[in-house]
Amino acid sequence: MNNHLTISDLFEAKLNQRKIAVISCYDFTTARLVSETEIEMIIVGDSASQLILGFDSTLPVTMDFMVAITSAVRRGAPNVFLVADMPFLSYQVTIPDAIRNAGRFITESNAQMVKIEATSAQLGIIKAVSDAGIGVMAHIGIRPQSISKIGRFKAEATTAEMAAQLINLSQQMVQAGASSLLLEGAAAEVAQIITQRSEVPVISCGSGPHCDGQVLVAPDILGLTRGNLPKFSKSYDNLAERTLKAFQEYSKEIKSNEYPDKAHSYHMKPGEVEKLNKMIEL
Ligand code: KIV
Repeated sequence: MNNHLTISDLFEAKLNQRKIAVISCYDFTTARLVSETEIEMIIVGDSASQLILGFDSTLPVTMDFMVAITSAVRRGAPNVFLVADMPFLSYQVTIPDAIRNAGRFITESNAQMVKIEATSAQLGIIKAVSDAGIGVMAHIGIRPQSISKIGRFKAEATTAEMAAQLINLSQQMVQAGASSLLLEGAAAEVAQIITQRSEVPVISCGSGPHCDGQVLVAPDILGLTRGNLPKFSKSYDNLAERTLKAFQEYSKEIKSNEYPDKAHSYHMKPGEVEKLNKMIEL
């Protein structure tokens, strides 16, 4: 039996105004560490495309890849609420495809919810996946999978008209069956209204402090990411520097014959070296 958090725990957190800590991570080792903290939710994000595979957008990752890494994260963190990100073209082509692919994350990766980047064009998909009995997190605001159509992302809902549209969209998502919302890159004032009006938990990714929870990607939190972080992101350590130092030290010790020393090597049993020397006539 699994003993992980459920959607009911997230609704309870919202009701009691207890903030939900969420992280996007992609591997067993990191997930195992996350599971030793009070972070309640892991989203296995398609940002793995850039941060694990080195592509320049989220578009190239496949269902098989996402299912494999989501399963690895579940093995590392059996206790967290686990959300799988549906990759580009896994839900847009047909509704049966969307249900089948969402279902793979539930049956093969033991995820509890799928995240779908959505505009009003995806309301039918949200409804169909939710009607199939699968929890859906509707990802609204900035939607990285629309990069080829939009070209460059900027903050969402910064005018009254845009704000009213986003508030309306958030309500349509919930009416269609979304069990939670992920709000990316929206003005904080608007995120506050959406959160207050929403009966489902609202997770902010760069949408200010008023949502029910916050998400950042693990490499940013750890300070592993090279280059400039987005305005909203924050590093809580500088593991890039510490990792470089460890790699350099390792390389130096190999070259100077310090590694491996006696303590880091296996040895023959007592008396066996002499016996071997006789056997091979050394
Ligand atoms: O891909 C990702 O990491 C995301 C986060 C915002 C959760 O979508």
